[in-house]
Parts: sequence; structure tokens; C-alpha cells
Amino acid sequence: TVLIVDFGSQVTQLIARRVREAGVYSEVVPFSKVEEALERLSPRAIILSGGPASVHESASPQASPKLFAAGVPVLGICYGEQAMCACLGGKVEGGHVREFGRATVEVVEDSPLFDGVWENGTNHQVWMSHGDKVTAIPEGFRPIAVTEGSPFAAIHDPERHFYGVQFHLEVAHTPDGAKLISNFVHKIAGLKGDWTMAQFREEAIARIREQVGSGRVICGLSGGVDSAVAAVLIHEAIGEQLTCIFVDHGLLRLNEAEQVVTLFRDHYNIPLVHVDAADTFIGALEGEADPEVKRKTIGRLFIETFEAEAKKIGGANFLAQGTLYPDVIESVSFTGGPSVTIKSHHNVGGLPERMNMQLVEPLRMLFKDEVRALGRELGLPEVFVGRHPFPGPGLAIRCPGGVTREKLDILQRADAIYLDEIRKAGLYDAIWQAFAVLLPVQTVGVMGDARTYEFVLALRAVTSVDGMTADFYHFDMAFLGRAATRIINEVRGVNRVVYDVTSKPPGTIEWE
Ligand code: XMP
Repeated sequence: TVLIVDFGSQVTQLIARRVREAGVYSEVVPFSKVEEALERLSPRAIILSGGPASVHESASPQASPKLFAAGVPVLGICYGEQAMCACLGGKVEGGHVREFGRATVEVVEDSPLFDGVWENGTNHQVWMSHGDKVTAIPEGFRPIAVTEGSPFAAIHDPERHFYGVQFHLEVAHTPDGAKLISNFVHKIAGLKGDWTMAQFREEAIARIREQVGSGRVICGLSGGVDSAVAAVLIHEAIGEQLTCIFVDHGLLRLNEAEQVVTLFRDHYNIPLVHVDAADTFIGALEGEADPEVKRKTIGRLFIETFEAEAKKIGGANFLAQGTLYPDVIESVSFTGGPSVTIKSHHNVGGLPERMNMQLVEPLRMLFKDEVRALGRELGLPEVFVGRHPFPGPGLAIRCPGGVTREKLDILQRADAIYLDEIRKAGLYDAIWQAFAVLLPVQTVGVMGDARTYEFVLALRAVTSVDGMTADFYHFDMAFLGRAATRIINEVRGVNRVVYDVTSKPPGTIEWE
């Protein structure tokens, strides 16, 4: 294991991903919990992340001396380099020259960190983002790379295997960054790089068996990738001790509810309770136009329905959830204060406390793309594994205003045509999320020789890395024309199609 100590950088998770991409398991731990983590993980290497603080401010997070007494290689990145230097007797000062953005480092001494990189010339592009800088390095250290502004852009203590870089090698703007991380974990720490999904699967199955014993587990399926992968994995571990509950709120994309039922019952033979609760959900949403009330209504009904079904099954002492690593990583926050709620997200949150069951969360150490890889490893079909994200409240929040069966039907069919055209154009995987929104607005049109007065449909497609920010997708006009024509010709009730060209921020991805 590689221990990644988080000092609050925006991109700490990227370090974890790069290390895992190098085939080595890594975990992120806040700087304040280092001692417990050293004990629990016995890491074979340590990476110190960047962070927004200044080492010389009195309240700033410090690197624990225990990190450097563990006898394993340490790599400090940006603030991590500064914290390492501060701890080991070097000096850090507020930089008079601040470096932000692209910079060129010049390699001045041979080091295994730059293996396979410096041979291609001594100058390399890196990404800098710092105000403070190291002005004196601790005893035993020597510079390995410099920039105009930083005489210690990269340093090492070859005896103790301590390395520091002022630049961010985890980001894509440092083109050789992945190679440097691979050098650190493979060549410097001597780790093999044999962490694979096949291995994770075996280990996860063993852990589930150990946790559950002869107990009974229930698992909520949503139609999404995470809960599906969790369910298949748990089923592989404990077979019939697992029962899945699929609360079908009638707000999924066209035919997806049937797909879930078929896949689980027929293909995997997993005991599945399919609760057709569409009447309850749609009935409650019919006259309601307020987005937050809609979201909260769906969340409440979901919990009530799920709980009632779980009671009917009875005797289950474990609740399975497809929680992912980004939800688990404790964030290091320096801003304090609660952030503003933009939307109340609905998932199974709140269930565990109410139901007094132990949680089984086999995916809690995985990133989304790793869950997809595990899904493929478990034989889940590609259409399922590669699917765009879908919000818990489903099509209800893509139908601004009150929701009716008629509107849902129009929206499902139009959305399916749009996605079909996207797949045919080979664009599905290049887009983070694409969907249609049925507006509560009717406009006049002419079809044949007759006047029409029907709904407007908005198409949305965005690119994104994590859903936090997004850019609208730049389709060519011919594509949009094709999709619009098919939708208007094939779906009664829509006579006008528009494309949403808003990015996030200032928009959000969903319309409600
Ligand atoms: P927004 O609209 O906030 O969406 O830009 C960001 C991402 O989150 C998804 N989303 C949800 N996912 N429950 C979920 O599980 C929700 O209530 C929910 N609301 C939005 C959205 O589809 C996008 O991928």
C-alpha cells in the first residue's frame, strides 16, 4: 500500500488514481490521522499531497516526524515538499516570485525519479501552483531539478529515499507526471504493480464472507452501475443470502426497469423483489412544480417503500450499498462553515440509520472508473457498465413542472431516440451525460398542412470529469438536425427541439 497524506489539495484524489494506475493500491488519509494510518496500513511508500496553507503560519498542518521515521520512501508534492523540508530542518519562505501554471524544469542531477524522462533532454514541462517556496533544503538533500523561480523544484535525499517536487506531477498538465509517479512506486519503493481488478475481486469476496458470515443481506438496486456491481459481487460471495430490492419509481429511462429485472433475475439468478411503485411516485408528483419539493418527495417515498419491502423480507441484518471512494475520503477543509445546498441529492442516504442494520460497502475503496472495470471483470454487459450517470430522482427532474404519465412517456421516447443517435454517431463514450428535458411550454408548429400546438424538448449533453464542473458538448449542427427531425417525426407531443449551450457553472447539469 502507498499511503497518501492529504494536506487539503484540490487534486489529492488524482495522486491516488495515478498510483493505482501504476498497479499499486493506495489510500488517502487526512494529515491529522497519520499515526493511526501508519499502524493500520504499514505502507511501503508515502506521498505527501499539496495543500492551500502556508507552512510557516502557526496553525498550518504539519507533517508528522513519524512519517520520516517509518523507514520507507517519501515523496512530497508542492506543500508536501515544503512540509517535509520544514519537518527535517530545511527552510520555507513566502515566495517573492510566485509560480502559477506552466513552467519548465531543468534536470540538474541524475535520479531514479526522472528515469526514462531526463534522457529525452534536460528540460521538461510541469505545472506549478505555489506562492511559498523552499529556500534551504535539509541536510542530506540535493537539488535534482530547478526552474527560474525555484532552485529546489525537485530534490532528493538518495540515502533515505526522500523526494520532493515543487510542481504538481499528478495533473495532466505535467505530461511526464505519471512516469515520475511510476518511478517512485516501482523503482524507488520497489513495489511490483500487480494490483488488478481480478485480485480486488478475490479479496473483496473474502472480506464480504468474513463480514457477513451466515447473516442475510439486502441490497437496493437503482438501475445504475454502482449498485449493480455491488450486488453481483456480493452475490458471488454469499449467494442466496443476498436479496435485492428494486424500487421501480417509474422514472427510469425507456425499458431500463425491464433490463434491470431481466439481467438480475434471468442472467445472474439473483433473488430480486421488483416493487412497481410508479403509481405512488407519479401520483405524488402530479401537481408539484417546486424542484426541491419534488426531490424531497421522491427521497421520502423511496425510503418508505424500501423499508416496507425490507420488513416483508424480514431477518436481514446487513444493508448493502454501492458507496464509492470519493464519498468516503474525509476531506480536509480549511474554509470551515457549511457549503450552500444547491440541490438535495437523493440516494439511499438516511436509510442505514433508520433501519439499524450493518452496512456492507464493497466498493468504498474504488473510484468510478475502477467500479466499471470491476463490473467488466464480473461480466456485466457493456451497455450497463458504460452507461452515463443517472440521477436518483430520475426523469422527474427532467420534466420541469408537474409530472404526469403522459409527459414521462413522451420524454422517455424522445430521450431514447436522442441517445440512439448519439450511439450511432459513435459519440456516446466521449460524452459524460446526455439526456432530453421536456419543457412545460407548448408552441405552435405546422405539420402536413395542419397547425400543431405541442411541447418543446430541450437536448442536453456535457463533458465532465466528475460532474462538479461541465462544458456543453459541441455537436455539429448536422447531428442536432438529425436528432431533432427524428424526435419530431417519431414522438407525438413534441413539435420543437432546442439545444442547451450552458456550461456548469453557471448552469447545473440537470435542469432541476
Ligand atoms: P447537477 O445537476 O447538480 O448534477 O450539476 C451533477 C451530477 O449529479 C447527478 N445528480 C444526481 N445524482 N442523485 C444522484 O444520485 C441526485 O439527486 C442527483 N441530482 C443530480 C447529475 O445527473 C449529474 O451527473
